[in-house]
Amino acid sequence: MNYQIFPSAEVASKAIALEIRTLIGRRAAQGRMAVLGLATGKSPVFVYRELVRMHREEGLSFANVVSFNLDEYVGLDPFHARSYRTFMHEHLFDHIDILPGNIHIPAGDLPLAETRSHCAAYEAAIEGAGGIDLQILGIGRTGHIGFNEPGAGRGSRTSVVHLDEITRADAADDFGGFGNVPSQAITMGCGTILEARKIVLMAWGSKKAEIVARAFQGPVSDEIPASYLQEHDNVAIYLDAPAAADLAPPDALAGKTACFTGLR
Ligand code: F6R
Repeated sequence: MNYQIFPSAEVASKAIALEIRTLIGRRAAQGRMAVLGLATGKSPVFVYRELVRMHREEGLSFANVVSFNLDEYVGLDPFHARSYRTFMHEHLFDHIDILPGNIHIPAGDLPLAETRSHCAAYEAAIEGAGGIDLQILGIGRTGHIGFNEPGAGRGSRTSVVHLDEITRADAADDFGGFGNVPSQAITMGCGTILEARKIVLMAWGSKKAEIVARAFQGPVSDEIPASYLQEHDNVAIYLDAPAAADLAPPDALAGKTACFTGLR
């Protein structure tokens, strides 16, 4: 695993945005689309802010970007204040020049009978775009990536899942109470995520320290779906110091390659 520990989430987020900008530029030079897998939640907010700044101040164009979001709550109108569609438009899409037709977010408001084919179509759209070049991830306190909660299989595909109680509790403030948090979501599967050519996972703050250490220095297990990332050959973990606090130092990582770089 490649850990980079930064002095703050803002500094780390600028490095991630730079990585995204480099990919977009490389693809543009090749006359190709850059395919981004995007996350919502608190973790990527600074990354999106920096990308918007790069668009406004440095002319970074997203005209050759195709995006696929990881997940969406089931049962929410897409225009609900807490839908992930709303989040993405507020934090990124409304402020850049991505073509609306190139944005993909799972639809959480479909009748149950249509969700299975919607999930299959989502997978087909990712494949049709040539696969995801760069997947951005946060990590939940349950060890989820996307909304793949403990028990999710390594090969799982885009589907409707039940949210863990801890995940719902973490979202309770946003929804004005635990009872208002949807109990289901559509999420890309672990298998879908692991097919991305490069994965960047970010975690900020002391609340993530324990799960970061368990996911990336503990055994690979379906109890912590993020641990599957240990088996991917191109993952970068961006942390601030509080989120890295429980990691063992490099020489304690028997058999695992680790590289502590970045600004301590
Ligand atoms: C969001 C997602 C989730 C979050 C995770 C961390 O699209 O897929 O896995 O990345 O729950 O959330 P925050 O960033 O709010 O701590």
